Amino acid sequence: MAPAPLLEAVDVSFTYGASTVLDRVSFTLGSSEVVSLLGPSGCGKTTLLNLIAGFRQPSSGRLLFDGAPITAPGPERAVVFQSGALFDWLTARQNIEFSLSCRGVAKAERRDVSEHVLELVGLKGAGGLYPYEMSGGMRQRVGVGRVIAARPRIMLMDEPFAAVDVQTREALQEELLRIHAATRCTIVFVTHSIEEAVFLSNRVFVLAKRGGTFDAAFDVALPAPRWDGLNRLDPEFLRLRERIYLTMKAGSPAATTGARAHALT
Ligand SMILES: Nc1ncnc2c1ncn2[C@@H]1O[C@H](COP(=O)(O)OP(=O)(O)OP(=O)(O)O)[C@@H](O)[C@H]1O
Ligand SMILES: [Mg+2]
Repeated sequence: MAPAPLLEAVDVSFTYGASTVLDRVSFTLGSSEVVSLLGPSGCGKTTLLNLIAGFRQPSSGRLLFDGAPITAPGPERAVVFQSGALFDWLTARQNIEFSLSCRGVAKAERRDVSEHVLELVGLKGAGGLYPYEMSGGMRQRVGVGRVIAARPRIMLMDEPFAAVDVQTREALQEELLRIHAATRCTIVFVTHSIEEAVFLSNRVFVLAKRGGTFDAAFDVALPAPRWDGLNRLDPEFLRLRERIYLTMKAGSPAATTGARAHALT
C-alpha cells in the first residue's frame, strides 16, 4: 500500500467575497517532495500557501496535513518569506536561534543547532553579522536557516529568491537542494521562473490564469543530485522547460499534455 500523503487537498476552494480564487483544487504531496507552483500573477499561488500554512481556511473542500485538517498555523508548517523577514536587531545566529528560544530549547543546544544550520546554509563564520551588514542573498540564507532550525515537516516558500541577482539566485537554488538532501523536508515553492521550478522540483504544478484551477502537473525526471547546477544543460531539463512554457503560453495544457489534469494525485 502506498504511504499516506503528507498533504492532501480535496476539492479545495477559496473565495474572497464574490470572487473565486481557488476552485476545487485537488492534489496530494508525499513526504520529502519538492513541488513548485507556477502560474500568472493573481492566480492564487500565495492564497494556496496561506491555506497550507493555516493562516486562512478553505471556503469548501478538505485540506489535510498528515491526515488531520489544517485549522491553524503550526510549527510543522513553516513559511519562508520573500524578504527573509529577519529581525534587524539580531545577528544571523540570533535570528536562527530565535525560534528555538521561543520553544524553550536550552542555550547550549541552541548554539549547536545554529552552528550546524549556519554551515548548512553556507554562512559558516558569518553568524555574528547583523542583517544590515549582509547582502540580499545572505539575508535570504538566514531566512531559510531560521526556518530549518525549527525542523518543520514542510517548508512553504513564496518567491523566496525573486529579489536577488541571477548568480546569487542560482547559488541559493543549489544550496536549497543541499539543504533538502540533508533534512528531507517537504518543500512547496512558489515561483514565476520555469527554470527555477524545473531545477528544484520533482513535480511542477501549473495553475490556470482564470478560475483558480490547476492546469497541469509535470514530473521532473532529472538525475540526482542536481546541486552542481549542470542539470540546467540536460536535454530533459530543456525539454521540460519548453513544454511548461508552451502550456503556460497557451493558457491551456491541451496542446502539449493532451488532457486537463484537475486532480493531481
Ligand atoms: N485580502 C484579499 N482580499 C481580496 N482579494 C484578495 C486578497 N488577497 C488576494 N486577493 C485576490 O486573490 C487573487 C489571488 O491572489 P494571490 O496573492 O494568491 O495570487 P498569486 O498567484 O500569489 O499572485 P502573484 O504571482 O502576483 O504573487 C488575486 O486576484 C487577488 O487580487
Ligand atoms: Mg503571490
